[in-house]
Amino acid sequence: MQRALLAYERALDEWVPADAPAGLGEAMRYGVLGAGKRLRPLLVLAACEAVDGDAPAALRAGTAVELIHAYSLIHDDMPCMDNDVLRRGKPTVHVQFGEAQAMLAGDAMQALAFEVLTPEAGIAPALQARLCALLARASGHAGMAGGQAIDLASVGKDLDEATLRDMHRRKTGVLLQGSVLMGAACGETTPATWAALTDYGAAIGLAFQVVDDILDVTQDSAVLGKTAGKDQEANKPTYVSLMGLDGARRYADELRAQAHAALARSGLTNTAWLSLLADRVVDRDN
Ligand code: IPE
Ligand code: IPE
Ligand code: MG
Ligand code: MG
Ligand code: MG
Repeated sequence: MQRALLAYERALDEWVPADAPAGLGEAMRYGVLGAGKRLRPLLVLAACEAVDGDAPAALRAGTAVELIHAYSLIHDDMPCMDNDVLRRGKPTVHVQFGEAQAMLAGDAMQALAFEVLTPEAGIAPALQARLCALLARASGHAGMAGGQAIDLASVGKDLDEATLRDMHRRKTGVLLQGSVLMGAACGETTPATWAALTDYGAAIGLAFQVVDDILDVTQDSAVLGKTAGKDQEANKPTYVSLMGLDGARRYADELRAQAHAALARSGLTNTAWLSLLADRVVDRDN
């Protein structure tokens, strides 16, 4: 995993330009380099390894997913959304560079993600198209952006469990699930294996946001690298507000068990890394 993290760090460093015009590159690099758990890139590589896929393609795919994720964080923190001043242990991009530059850095990182996925040579065109489709679907109106819209429209509301689950799946879950599927797309899979990995991704994707809700109330800002207690302050419906802390913890454990069960029926033998990442999604403190 350390090796993979280094490879991704290097790829991001190479891809995100320092010399984009008028300080844009500095804002982009500030937003994505040097911090973050890189969970999504690790999922891409772990899934690729499980299907014995094309590792260079997975390196690009993981880099692209992290660019989309980092862009979503930059925009999520802006005053028009969650209005946060701390991210990954540093002042947020809009605090450091201004709102317009933060918006543009996110825009440019989203475009860059798709540029990374479409090299002149090295990845078969059909795989490039497949990876672009998976990433676009996970990040657009049906996925992350749509979920973020629901999030903002839900402030102050008591959502029922089905509605909260739908919001969490979209805003966070589908990009994690998409990471798994992009990794799997780098190799050959049977329909049954693809379905099992889809279920694995759905379970860890939702678990990730349930745990994010838990950590918001149980951890302090220094450990999180972002301001703790923001959900309650902003009156956001969360799994903790719906089920209480113990209920949310039980639910996260249930989702972890679902993820492991999906791996067990995947027909894959090399799932140790995916299995470990499922545990890491739930047993984390930031
Ligand atoms: C935070 O994601 C935003 C959510 C989707 C909950 P991460 O917790 O993966 O953030 P980084 O990448 O490690 O900073
Ligand atoms: C964010 O959810 C999901 C994204 C798509 C970025 P949150 O708003 O709960 O994420 P944090 O807690 O700010 O990282
Ligand atoms: Mg948010
Ligand atoms: Mg937020
Ligand atoms: Mg949160």
